[in-house]
Amino acid sequence: MKNNKKGLFISFEGIDGCGKTTQIELLKKYLIEKNYEIIVTLEPGGCDIGKKLREILLFNKGFVSDVAEMFLYLADRAQHIEEIVEKNVNEGRIVLCDRCIDSTVAYQGYGRKGNIEQINILNDIATKGIKPDLTIIFDVDLETAQERVGNTKDRMEKEGFEFHKRVKEGYLEIAKKYPDRIKVINSNQKIDKVFSDLKEIIDKVI
Ligand code: TMP
Repeated sequence: MKNNKKGLFISFEGIDGCGKTTQIELLKKYLIEKNYEIIVTLEPGGCDIGKKLREILLFNKGFVSDVAEMFLYLADRAQHIEEIVEKNVNEGRIVLCDRCIDSTVAYQGYGRKGNIEQINILNDIATKGIKPDLTIIFDVDLETAQERVGNTKDRMEKEGFEFHKRVKEGYLEIAKKYPDRIKVINSNQKIDKVFSDLKEIIDKVI
């Protein structure tokens, strides 16, 4: 690993329907062929406690306050980082994580208009300061994303166009703030082209 650490922690971000889950699967195969040990995980829901929190976060029928929502995502993260991410990176694996800290800034910060400075502090507490070594944002048009999501929507996907627009713009703002850690890929392109852009970035860090 070029960063001299044991393993590597890579997160994948973007609005719902950006195509990141497909790309993570392609990347997993590519890296396994290169003989790396790979863990694919996700937030929320990458550990047992997280699976319960994911159910509440995405499928709770009644009212969920914005603050409660934020703390539930953070609780999932705190457990997931310690139980799954930290352990596997320390044991030399490459951890591919579908969403992490930047989702909370994009969704609860930009989307819900929460306080981003506070969210950054809470993210640091939840992760004990552990940050992804690399973050890929898949940037896609809102219309394309909506088509990919389809009609069966979870609680977050049901949020309106303006919410997702703020989230998309939020991600691009975040990318500007952390250019060393975060790379943006145009995800309006065909799957193969998105993947070749992804490989180009990944090959530089492994
Ligand atoms: P996904 O796993 O299908 O991408 O769904 C997770 C949803 O939760 C997605 O709409 C983004 C949202 N989310 C937040 O709002 N804040 C967070 O911190 C995380 C991790 C996800």
